[in-house]
Amino acid sequence: MRVLLIASSAREHAIADALSRSPQKPEIIAVCTTKNPGLKRLSSALHVGNILDFPWVTDIAKKAKIDLAIVGPDDPIGNGLADLLEAEGIPTMAPKKSLARIESSKSFARDLLRKYIPKSVPQFRVFTSYEPKSLNTFIVQDLKGAYVVKYDALRGGKGVKVSGEHLASVEEGMQYAKECIEECGRVVVEEKLIGVEFSLLSFVSGTQVVDMPAVQDHKRAFVGDTGPNTGGMGTYTDTNHSLPFLSEKDLEQAKEMNRLTAQALLKECGEPFHGILYGGYIAVKDGIRVIEFNARFGDPEALNILPLLSSDFVTICQAITTGELTEDLVRFGKKATVCKYITPESYPVSKDQKGQPVTFPTVPENARLYFGDITEDEQGTLLLGGSRTAGIVGIADTLAEAERIAQNLCERAKGPVRFRADIGTDALIRKRIETMRALRR
Ligand code: AMP
Ligand code: GLY
Repeated sequence: MRVLLIASSAREHAIADALSRSPQKPEIIAVCTTKNPGLKRLSSALHVGNILDFPWVTDIAKKAKIDLAIVGPDDPIGNGLADLLEAEGIPTMAPKKSLARIESSKSFARDLLRKYIPKSVPQFRVFTSYEPKSLNTFIVQDLKGAYVVKYDALRGGKGVKVSGEHLASVEEGMQYAKECIEECGRVVVEEKLIGVEFSLLSFVSGTQVVDMPAVQDHKRAFVGDTGPNTGGMGTYTDTNHSLPFLSEKDLEQAKEMNRLTAQALLKECGEPFHGILYGGYIAVKDGIRVIEFNARFGDPEALNILPLLSSDFVTICQAITTGELTEDLVRFGKKATVCKYITPESYPVSKDQKGQPVTFPTVPENARLYFGDITEDEQGTLLLGGSRTAGIVGIADTLAEAERIAQNLCERAKGPVRFRADIGTDALIRKRIETMRALRR
């Protein structure tokens, strides 16, 4: 059993870890943007290079006689790597380009949802040319000045600007919308939603949808949800696979929306989605809404979810590609997890600490250490990259204990690094519960 893993971050270290726990004992051939020390340990070959160089990637796949390919990051998925691998006869656990538009085009996603699940979307409009008058009327009159402007293509998580946060005035918002139209021909402008965000990821094979535990990510750089947005500073899951601030109905609605979205994609694109559907939701005063969909595992979400998977990940991936996915193939342990990302001190503002050494404590059985943007020199010294360094995950019977495990290990990471001490703490979780209560009072 030979698995090709296309990688760029700690998410794929977690994927490789789940693969290596499989009784099928697969051989992992990794293709990664960096010489990831975690992937190096778990794979029989690690090819380092540009994962958007598709002829190079498919050549590796063909030469290695791959049985299954898994594409982790958004870029190669959005640019159609699955189409090429499938054309070579390689079963691939990632959606094709047309289906991946659910992530790679904000306007495609919003239009699809409005058509099939109207209650899931906020008020929005897609502009394909710069019409200052109608844009201004939409923002000021219809949205009452509380709005969000979304670049229509992948932009490394930096394409969305929110009024009152990144956009200080209507003029700034209009200027950004204009920029978006000039660069990619269209822009989504929508109502700013107020609430608490969470992620629900599902394994999807056409209309077969099997959900994973719900996760909450923390996108802001600093303690107390302050500072610039990042790829995600940390995440947690709870023992009951829901989240403390969600009602049963909220979670049921999110599950239903993931299911309906898989069906809508099949109808609209005429072919089945094979991969991970990641619903980014926000619980608002009268229910939940979709913020976005991704066509892949989340990072760090995968770092919490995959260690809990107690059934065979290889079998699940195979079943996704063949259309034989069933609920009974997927089992998750009833534990809580807290993941905190160790990052360079100046992340995400600058890359000043790149190349400096970092060390980690030995990780006990109830924790995981997944390597992201970090390399190892010939002496075995770990060196920082410029982005998120490593995710440390605590796993326990309660959230409080999982947080304590992760926090203790993070404090013992040595080097010019930092992490968010507040993620997974009782105080922060109580704040989320209180925000929801206040909204729905
Ligand atoms: P996205 O790239 O679509 O996940 O957006 C990035 C972030 O922007 C989300 O995690 C939200 O915090 C914020 N965001 C996106 N859409 C909205 C919205 N309609 N209302 C409020 N915040 C939003
Ligand atoms: N954690 C956010 C993402 O993977 O997009």
